[in-house]
Amino acid sequence: MSERMDGKALAAKIKKEIALCAEKRAAEGKARPCLAVILVGEDPASAVYVRNKEKDCVECGIESRPYKLPADYGEEALLSLIDRLNDDPAVHGILVQLPLPKRYDQRRVIERISPDKDVDAFHPVNVGRMTIGEKGFLPCTPAGILELLDEYGIDPAGKNCVVVGRSNIVGKPMALLLLRRNGTVTVAHSKTRDLADITRRADILVSAVGKAGFIRADMVKPGAVIVDVGMNRNEEGKLCGDVDFAACEPLASYITPVPGGVGPMTRAILMKNTLYAAELKENIG
Ligand code: GUN
Repeated sequence: MSERMDGKALAAKIKKEIALCAEKRAAEGKARPCLAVILVGEDPASAVYVRNKEKDCVECGIESRPYKLPADYGEEALLSLIDRLNDDPAVHGILVQLPLPKRYDQRRVIERISPDKDVDAFHPVNVGRMTIGEKGFLPCTPAGILELLDEYGIDPAGKNCVVVGRSNIVGKPMALLLLRRNGTVTVAHSKTRDLADITRRADILVSAVGKAGFIRADMVKPGAVIVDVGMNRNEEGKLCGDVDFAACEPLASYITPVPGGVGPMTRAILMKNTLYAAELKENIG
């Protein structure tokens, strides 16, 4: 039987530590960390994510500045807003909630954010820094997963790590961070042949596919660590991950539940990155 990795509990611990740091900063007369969150359009899932980020900011003693913009706000206007936030010394982190409505050039928008305020770590400069192991922001979901593995004493070094999914937000950076920790990393994706043969070799299996029930018990090596990044709804409308949890849990050594696994860790690392952005500002003036 496996142990569940409790992302909710670890995220709460991290957020408490951040709140203490924010208090200490305030006592020293330093500015409160401040996160600008930009939401364009009416996507209901994005609205929930943004609301959760605002709640996290309150818990962590971080100021949040929400910008809720209509879908037709326009790309040039959005870029000017980002320019203003880049130049505003009171703003430490800038996050544009993705996906943007279709007419926007998402890459152009992300690349407009100053790399020193890019708390999502989506800017190519931060992607590059992460890739070569330089200091900088780390993307929230993969960094949160590593902290969760650390908490449970799971060291990727020398292990077969299989990441299913190759998105820029999760799959690719997850593979790079596991490699940085000396894992032997395979990235599988929708074109991968004989996927089950590959996943069955995983000591650490990370699924970031976005399909309920995608990882079946016959795809899992007994004793594997399973990390489920999926956020899906099943036929009953219930939130679930990519992993057939009931079937895979008895096989795994450790497994993340959905909800309560990776999701809260992503949110906690965003807060950590915002605090880091504020401290970076003090160091670079
Ligand atoms: N949409 C889904 N996940 C994310 C994320 O981590 N950051 C942003 N900005 N948008 C997202």
